[in-house]
Amino acid sequence: MGIDPYRAKYAYGEDYGTRFFKYGILKEGRPRVTTSSGLFLEESFLLKHFGVEKKLVVGDEVSKYAASVSSLARNLVFPLSDGEVKRDDERAWNVIKELTRKGFEDFRGYVGSDFDGFYVTAAVSAIAPDYMYERLLKIHAEIDEKTRAVKAFTIIPQPLAVAIAEQETSCLVIESGHGNTQITPIRMYPIRDAIIALYRGGAEADAIAAEVLKDLGYGDLVSDEYAVRKFKEDAGLVPLDLDEAVKKAREDPSKLRTKVKLSALVEVDFEDKGWLRYLIGEVIFNPMHEIFDSYRKRGVLNIRDARLGEDVIEGALPLEDAIIRSTRKLRISIQNEVLSKIILSGGNFNWRAPENLKGMAVDVPTKVKSLLDKKLKGEVNVSVRLARDPQFSVWKGCVTWSFALPEDYRWSWERREGWFKRGADY
Ligand SMILES: Nc1ncnc2c1ncn2[C@@H]1O[C@H](COP(=O)(O)OP(=O)(O)OP(=O)(O)O)[C@@H](O)[C@H]1O
Ligand SMILES: [Mg+2]
Repeated sequence: MGIDPYRAKYAYGEDYGTRFFKYGILKEGRPRVTTSSGLFLEESFLLKHFGVEKKLVVGDEVSKYAASVSSLARNLVFPLSDGEVKRDDERAWNVIKELTRKGFEDFRGYVGSDFDGFYVTAAVSAIAPDYMYERLLKIHAEIDEKTRAVKAFTIIPQPLAVAIAEQETSCLVIESGHGNTQITPIRMYPIRDAIIALYRGGAEADAIAAEVLKDLGYGDLVSDEYAVRKFKEDAGLVPLDLDEAVKKAREDPSKLRTKVKLSALVEVDFEDKGWLRYLIGEVIFNPMHEIFDSYRKRGVLNIRDARLGEDVIEGALPLEDAIIRSTRKLRISIQNEVLSKIILSGGNFNWRAPENLKGMAVDVPTKVKSLLDKKLKGEVNVSVRLARDPQFSVWKGCVTWSFALPEDYRWSWERREGWFKRGADY
């Protein structure tokens, strides 16, 4: 297969995340990132005075207006929750459409006179219902009608995108973003019956981080979502073993003490409560741990259950149990194989492990391997690695797919694969 220069230039990817929309062209090597949100502006003379005629602003532009909108709660929309857009939530779909349209618009300066539309691959959650596929197709067709930005369009599940980006045909992908964590065994295709989804992700770590801020006496910061996230990412630690790490940290608090600078004016000091940093990282792995009891009672960790076919997956199921549950649904002959090739991706797995806390605070692959080794008593040769650029590997898989999927491969609802094409499907 020869390289198609048009495709090389105009392959485009879209990763619809709960917190961040990643989009852009293969050639840039990295996606552009904007917040997955929209703000509906009510009519205002002041806005008109400053030349703002728009009714809806999306992405990072939202923060420009948010402070000046009185009824923020009513007008600010995060279209995805736990990786899904509700079927009848028209405002949410409007935000998705505007994010999508604006994405293409951002690349208007890049396209040449040969441009006849991008080859677009969008990624959605592995358990996204059919109506999300239908709606995304419709949105792209409508945008194309007005702008001729979309020559061909396809959709793939996020975990498959990771496998494509990592060039693995047989593996277990765990994709953990802000809103959900998807465990997906892959053998060429995702093995749909074995997918386990947990409706938790970075959002739960944010929730614990906010409580920690309160405990440290900085309760006034918790309504500032940016501050909470920055605090979480800077201070949070993933303990290899929570109980042991907390015990050690209490014996010698000095090692865990840190000051987190949130702005030139605001700095949070842990003093002798550095052990709380471990709670922020642990919650992703085991929200059922009794150390979180008091938070659960306060309703801080309300994780909904996922329904997959006949099964109900408790949202707080420990990660290693979820992995085992998924693997058990595979044929015996391939169980060991996928456990020996676990790939982690998503921003929520991007935790750093400081050198001076070696053996106590670890990176996520080390944590996951240790959890599984304990569970499987070392009987399986478990190997876990982090995708390159974990927050962007879904996007990378999308652009790779846009480039590689053969022109004559047409969309099939049965296989959920192939191109929708202008002139034929819209
Ligand atoms: N270095 C880091 N340490 C800890 N958390 C991080 C780090 N970098 C990003 N995150 C967290 O990752 C989350 C965003 O990841 P990502 O962009 O993969 O999510 P998403 O795609 O928007 O959501 P989803 O895939 O669940 O729909 C946020 O909660 C963010 O705070
Ligand atoms: Mg994501």
